[in-house]
Amino acid sequence: MTNQEKIQELLDLRVKARLGGGEKRINDQHNKGKLTARERIDILLDEGSFEEFDMFVTHRCTDFGLEKELYLSDGVVTGYGTIDGRLVYVFSQDFTVFGGSLSETYATKICKVMDQAMKVGAPVIGINDSGGARIQEGVKSLGGYADIFERNILSSGLIPQISAIFGPCAGGAVYSPALTDFIVMSKDTSYMFVTGPKVVKTVTGEDVTTEQLGGAKVHATKSGIAHFVSENEEEGLLLIRKLMSYLPQNNLEDPPIAICDDPIDRLEDSLNEIIPENSNKPYDVKDVIHAVVDNHEIIETQRDFAPNIITAFARFNGMSVGIVANQPSYLAGVLDINSSRKAARFVRFCDAFNIPIVTFVDVPGFLPGTAQEYNGIIIHGAKLLYAYGEATVPKVTIILRKAYGGAYDVMSSKHLRGDINYAWPTAEIAVMGPRGAIEVLNSKEIAAIKDDAERAKFIAEKENEYRTKFANPYNAAKFGYIDDVIEPRNTRFRICRALQSLQTKKVVNPPKKHSNLPL
Ligand code: HXC
Repeated sequence: MTNQEKIQELLDLRVKARLGGGEKRINDQHNKGKLTARERIDILLDEGSFEEFDMFVTHRCTDFGLEKELYLSDGVVTGYGTIDGRLVYVFSQDFTVFGGSLSETYATKICKVMDQAMKVGAPVIGINDSGGARIQEGVKSLGGYADIFERNILSSGLIPQISAIFGPCAGGAVYSPALTDFIVMSKDTSYMFVTGPKVVKTVTGEDVTTEQLGGAKVHATKSGIAHFVSENEEEGLLLIRKLMSYLPQNNLEDPPIAICDDPIDRLEDSLNEIIPENSNKPYDVKDVIHAVVDNHEIIETQRDFAPNIITAFARFNGMSVGIVANQPSYLAGVLDINSSRKAARFVRFCDAFNIPIVTFVDVPGFLPGTAQEYNGIIIHGAKLLYAYGEATVPKVTIILRKAYGGAYDVMSSKHLRGDINYAWPTAEIAVMGPRGAIEVLNSKEIAAIKDDAERAKFIAEKENEYRTKFANPYNAAKFGYIDDVIEPRNTRFRICRALQSLQTKKVVNPPKKHSNLPL
């Protein structure tokens, strides 16, 4: 072979590899409204930045006649490239080759990029579209999965890991995405479950479709597994690009700072009016968040799961922050199992990756009832408490209205090492709300009043007394539990300055093997 022929051979092999399982299967993929593994990478990464590894890898299985069925790349495209010029590692499962199923060599390819990413400290983005373990490879495939899981675990808290689910993701295969930081699912074309509809029918007798069992909507609303749902794959990939702009490359770096053209001293007069006079009336805390962050822009995670708490990324003066906010317009912003879990994981992610946390508090307390107690609100609430108390990133807290009971402590209070804690004049910081307090403190007197109207008048008077005495920010301010009572319209400026002052914060937790987070 001449050198020219050798080069031609390389180019021909590349063309072959890029065809994956062949044109027919690529067409099938397109007909399902899905993109191919390589098309997805093209959208995800900066143009021309992709460097592929292991294009010439094939499987080593000789059972079931598989030795005659060899495809270059073996069902997964791996390598690195850039997003907005920043290095990321990628693997993209290719459904056109054995349904994207995972073989021994396929797993080795994924492990290679994960190892490399850990070595250099760059994020990993995995695009999942696979029929699971390659049945013909048996236990080797299972071993391959576990090799990936181990790397997911070792990478956790070291480099950001993002998963896109753009097709099937079933059985044990779900656990790799589950171990990553964020999951994006595409509407109508993706699903995740541990056991599929047929097994469900056999074991529990339930009739359920794939979509009902593990579609994007289910995981966005019921399980909270999906942090983001996209209308289509392109939207999902662009969303990942945007998400990455808020994150550092690894746990030793700070997130990138964006150019901020939004004045940091921008006054928002609407905030002086936003809290209703009647403190039992709801308002949308997202209006507060949008009003104060750079360019009114946020990227919300788990938007449709536990909407009584908001978790989102945003920027103040170009600095990336994680926002946690009780949402009074849903269940009065109460803390329950789901909202505690949601916020706890978000806070821990931010803390692991040096992203300051800004918390907006308006919480009437924890949700009462047997459903919550039987399902362990004690342990789940403790997760959020633990996450805030453990976090060493800058923590800025604004109490907008209610901060009652244990929920006051939990929501990034001074006592959990909140760095700068402000309250609006509308804040009510106390052990419990006026009604509950009166019912405990004055129960005997209330019971003794027989006349309904008189009893109501007595309760109203006592409530008023309590409100005047306790339902305000000044008791907490008196003890230094909040640093200042601020004018609502000035909130953006105060947060920007607080974050600026905390940029050099250094707090280190006591050394230990690892903590024992209440799981
Ligand atoms: C080998 C597989 C495969 C698999 C699909 N294919 N799944 N090959 N191992 N797991 C092949 C098919 O034979 C077919 O080959 C091609 O991929 C496309 O599959 P279709 O069935 O034609 O596609 P579709 O109708 O879209 O259905 C997709 C599917 C279905 C729902 C994923 O293929 C399916 O149910 N597959 C089996 C899923 C499964 O049970 N996996 C094991 C789970 S257990 P041709 O040549 O016709 O194109 C598991 C354990 C992991 O994963 C444990 C980790 C700890």
